Amino acid sequence: MIPEVTGFSKLNKQQKIDWLVSNHFKHTKKAEQVLYTYWNTDKQLQQLHDEFAENTLSNFYLPFSIAPNFTINNKRYTIPMSIEESSVVAAASNAAKFWNKRGGFTAKVIDTQKIGQVHFSFIGDTTKLVTFFNSVKPKLINSIQPIEANMKKRGGGLLDIELRNKTGDIPNYYQLHCTFETVDAMGANFINTCLEKFAEVLQLKALEWDAFTTSEKEIEIIMSILSNYVPDCIVRAEVFCNVKDLPNTSEISSKAYAEKFIRAVTIAEKEPFRAVTHNKGIMNGIDAVVIATGNDFRAIEAGAHAYAAKNGSYSSLTHAYIKNNIFTYYIEIPLAVGTIGGLTSLHPMVKLALELLNKPNAKQLMEIIAVAGLAQNFGAINSLITTGIQKGHMKMHLLNILNQCNATAEEKQQIVQYFTKNTVTHSEVIKQLELLRS
Ligand code: MEV
Repeated sequence: MIPEVTGFSKLNKQQKIDWLVSNHFKHTKKAEQVLYTYWNTDKQLQQLHDEFAENTLSNFYLPFSIAPNFTINNKRYTIPMSIEESSVVAAASNAAKFWNKRGGFTAKVIDTQKIGQVHFSFIGDTTKLVTFFNSVKPKLINSIQPIEANMKKRGGGLLDIELRNKTGDIPNYYQLHCTFETVDAMGANFINTCLEKFAEVLQLKALEWDAFTTSEKEIEIIMSILSNYVPDCIVRAEVFCNVKDLPNTSEISSKAYAEKFIRAVTIAEKEPFRAVTHNKGIMNGIDAVVIATGNDFRAIEAGAHAYAAKNGSYSSLTHAYIKNNIFTYYIEIPLAVGTIGGLTSLHPMVKLALELLNKPNAKQLMEIIAVAGLAQNFGAINSLITTGIQKGHMKMHLLNILNQCNATAEEKQQIVQYFTKNTVTHSEVIKQLELLRS
């Protein structure tokens, strides 16, 4: 068994590596070397990365790619994407070009409200709690004045505090359900600091509330935390075109294409097994931009999937329909992202990504990210209903297979050339490589 280690976080980096390799690896030098290989030679830069999280031993690279040619609200964008999956960036770029010829994407933020909650237990008379809350509410609002000052200057702050009676779900359970506007910040730290202040004041004022009995005075704070479910922080991105402008080939007419496309989306709307994969494809695009722009992809993922299930059954985040011969296809998704705070001013690649996008504000970034998700879903459905997904996917995966086989640059060139005219399968790549090597 691996021995328990105490005070690990206090060790220096080399001591941590020594402990790690000696307790986990047979080839200690080799393991150590892998970690060193990914260190940045710029010591200051490495230190910056070391300090992002605790117990950092090395760096873990993701590709930083770009998908050019996106037209969003009549402006041209090159979108940064950080993702390891072959074919995602290519699919996004193809979708961008396809829709450029049909007017590009439009996107609009519908609302930007964030949510935080103080969860607490109150054992007593609900009507007395309501009276107490109404009286203490202005004090709660006042209590965060110093915390809120900067946010208010930027046009944000607390929007409202509501007392919610949740005793129907759990005995004695209530919430302060708070809404916030955090403008260009994702706002997690701001919201959590406000919530903890509300909790403190609520508890303190309850002790002083004469109408409460001794036990009623003892409000128990369970927890104070923002919610990553943000159904009122929503953006909609859309494309539309005349049905006759959709792909029209010898195999499928544009009308049949539109109908098949809509049927594929409808299946994802109705069938959870398909919806999860459908939305996973959307998140390929969304997460890639969220990561490249230094935002919290776990928060985005959790919020998006909760939104996909908001009507009680897990469903598609995109929708499509034809009206008056116009094919319309759109996504509606909650995206709580920021363009200030967090990693946005710290990580050099994030700063570069934001500059690439012309330093967007949070609303513009929401629009760009939603478009990336819609483009990704378009690419996936387009492939699925025509050639099938594997053709494009395997073409992009070819290099991964060649790298697994340690192919040389020359071998790669020849094999890639061979597969421009042949179908890529894992076994066929191996066969061609073996033929070449023999
Ligand atoms: C693969 O990462 C994503 C897809 O499965 C999405 C989809 O099926 O819509 C291709």
